[in-house]
Amino acid sequence: IAAPLEDQHARPLRDLRISVMDRCNFRCPYCMPDSTYHEGFRFLAPGERLDFNEIERVAHVAAELGVTKLRLTGGEPLLRPDLSKLVERLVQIPGIEDIALTTNGMLLKRHAPALHAAGLHRVTVSLDSLDPAVFARMSGGRGDLLTVLDSIEAARAIGFPGGVKINTVVQRDVNDSGVTELLARFRHTGIIVRLIEYMDVGNRNGWERADVVTSQELRTRINALWPLDPVSPGYPGEVATRYRYVDGGGEIGFISSVSAPFCGDCSRARLSSEGQLFTCLFATKGTDLRGILRDPAYAGDDGALRQALAQIWHRRIDRYSEEREERRSRADALNDRRAGEKIEMHYIGG
Ligand code: GTP
Ligand code: 5AD
Ligand code: SF4
Ligand code: SF4
Repeated sequence: IAAPLEDQHARPLRDLRISVMDRCNFRCPYCMPDSTYHEGFRFLAPGERLDFNEIERVAHVAAELGVTKLRLTGGEPLLRPDLSKLVERLVQIPGIEDIALTTNGMLLKRHAPALHAAGLHRVTVSLDSLDPAVFARMSGGRGDLLTVLDSIEAARAIGFPGGVKINTVVQRDVNDSGVTELLARFRHTGIIVRLIEYMDVGNRNGWERADVVTSQELRTRINALWPLDPVSPGYPGEVATRYRYVDGGGEIGFISSVSAPFCGDCSRARLSSEGQLFTCLFATKGTDLRGILRDPAYAGDDGALRQALAQIWHRRIDRYSEEREERRSRADALNDRRAGEKIEMHYIGG
């Protein structure tokens, strides 16, 4: 396949999201509801997960094909032993300019110094509410709010070069009334809060459109308290639409994948901890790379891996979120339904 590598909608491959762990120490009902992810749920065995060598090989080949950004995700990535050792290796890959981590923050304070020393550029912590009861509900009763807040402060103080962000998934009548309290707390701290429209990821969260609070609705509410001005995107197809407080309080972001999908510029591939490559967050099927990685015939030669990755990307046609809106505007009877089970969020890391 000739360079530059593009998919069927002329989108380059720029961003690789690597899930290093399918397990999580939270049970957020919108991601891993306790009813499904109970004691008996079978997670991957350690040997089924890619080891650091294998992850490094995929990242290396991806960088050769155009990837400049890596993001480590889970489940909860800090449940993976020695994660900073992986970071140390990934930051050295030629072409990688940015390496970030998405975490729920429970274990971050403990690991922040090693991650920082390893060269991690930036951290994003998920935090849905400052109200202890709401926080407890939204983490499935597993999280501790003060621990997460403490971690956020530790990460800010240590000074990751790309800073600290907070991801807040907003659900109507669950945490939407607490959004302004959360914003107020992080204004003037340099920490960027991003408000995420609750998405129909996976098959188990019982998503309904009525539970979504659109970015526009939130923006109207926020703008009435603290006037906002748009900020231009940091890169083409940036996931968050950026704004700044006119009064100098800092920046916030809106992630509107339901009301304003951004598939047109989507340059993201996702690697599951077991080595399946997915070309969309809402994919029903991935392609196994672990077989290639573990095939003795290819030891020491990543040509086959490079070819597989290039071919997967070249064939890519995914634009799920845009299609969802198109079906909706046609009032399609198949609205929000498609054949096959979508991949689960904790398995692919969002
Ligand atoms: P930055 O690099 O800081 O811009 O981070 P990011 O927004 O790309 O990643 P993050 O892990 O913080 O994700 C924020 C939210 O956006 C999560 O809810 C993700 O599931 C969602 N998200 C990220 N990428 C995509 C995407 O390609 N499609 C959709 N639909 N949602 C996405
Ligand atoms: N809708 C929107 N965002 C979600 N996340 C997890 N599940 C959903 C969902 N159904 C978020 C997490 C984390 C990020 C990677 O994805 O809160 O911040
Ligand atoms: Fe919650 Fe993230 Fe864990 Fe999913 S992976 S249960 S969103 S903390
Ligand atoms: Fe990319 Fe799929 Fe998200 Fe669209 S829905 S932005 S194609 S990951």
